[in-house]
Amino acid sequence: RPPADALDLRAHIVDLPDHPEPGVIFRDITPVLAHPEALASAVDQLTALTAELGVERVIAAEARGFLLGPALARELGAGFLLARKPGKLPRETIAVSYELEYGTDHLEVHADLLPPGTRVLVHDDLLATGGTAGALCSLVERLGGEVVACSFLVELGFLGGRAALAPHDVHALVRYD
Ligand code: PRP
Ligand code: ADE
Repeated sequence: RPPADALDLRAHIVDLPDHPEPGVIFRDITPVLAHPEALASAVDQLTALTAELGVERVIAAEARGFLLGPALARELGAGFLLARKPGKLPRETIAVSYELEYGTDHLEVHADLLPPGTRVLVHDDLLATGGTAGALCSLVERLGGEVVACSFLVELGFLGGRAALAPHDVHALVRYD
């Protein structure tokens, strides 16, 4: 099929001031997913950003990384790797812990799904501090994979996630400063 029209996805993102706590503007991407043309455009624009990188696997974290990650992998001709909260994956895993604004979180991936040298795209719906995506980068590298880029639907530029992910390239469709 031909690529979808490159819609301005910002028009489909709903802002919720003071959610989940005072001072935070929550950027709700569920209307992008609900709108057929916006969904197609999001997947196709994300695909176009990384189509030349020779991506062999896309890795994403639950829950919101799973929304577009598998569709993106399909368009790139890549496979998809799930990073899940502890205890959810049934076979041998490797784990990473990472800092949140308050406290620590953990993610696990199945240890046998990434052949050494595999070219991996780290994907998530949204880049904030970069903690989640940075954890995925370190998991990939510990498994012997190569992170070729990180891609996001939304980037909250003022939180410094792009710098936190250096030297990896960061691509995002909609940026808030
Ligand atoms: C959100 C979002 C990213 C992460 C970004 O996930 O989906 O994964 O925060 O923040 P960071 O750049 O500071 O790591 P959340 O932890 O809310 O979990 P969810 O996907 O289960 O909603
Ligand atoms: N994840 C972290 N910060 C967020 C925000 N402001 N909106 C939506 N998801 C987020």
